[in-house]
Amino acid sequence: MKIALASDHRGFEFKNVVARHLSDMGHEPVDFGTQNGNDSVDYPDYGRKAAEAVSTGECVRAVLICGTGLGMSLIANKVKGVRATVCHNPFTVEMSRRHNDANVLCLGVDVIDHQLLEEKLKIFLETEFEGGRHARRVDKIMDAESS
Ligand code: RB5
Repeated sequence: MKIALASDHRGFEFKNVVARHLSDMGHEPVDFGTQNGNDSVDYPDYGRKAAEAVSTGECVRAVLICGTGLGMSLIANKVKGVRATVCHNPFTVEMSRRHNDANVLCLGVDVIDHQLLEEKLKIFLETEFEGGRHARRVDKIMDAESS
């Protein structure tokens, strides 16, 4: 799968680790920047581009990284069709897929357990949405986009 990636300067090194894991798993990471960890940048500039790639269908999912994951989730959720969640452990990643049909995973490099990264990526990319009553709820979230 084509997976959009973006980070600010805080998440730059970690984005490279995520890209390597995704490639090892047979996916195609598409990097929307930032391109170095030295220059302080604004996370919305990069998170928005990656989220838009999910919105247009260019990429199936996105992984966005900043210090806390919070800023990235705020900008990504402004983009049509995006359901971005900040997940700190494998359980919340799993539930973000099963119940929320999340298509963007936001990680906080300063708060997550780095040992669990590969597990979280695998869960994010392989867990199916349960549908049923959860589809009704997700539809209500998507309806709010046009109101
Ligand atoms: C950058 O200093 C920091 O604010 C950013 O990485 C992120 O944590 C914002 O939500």
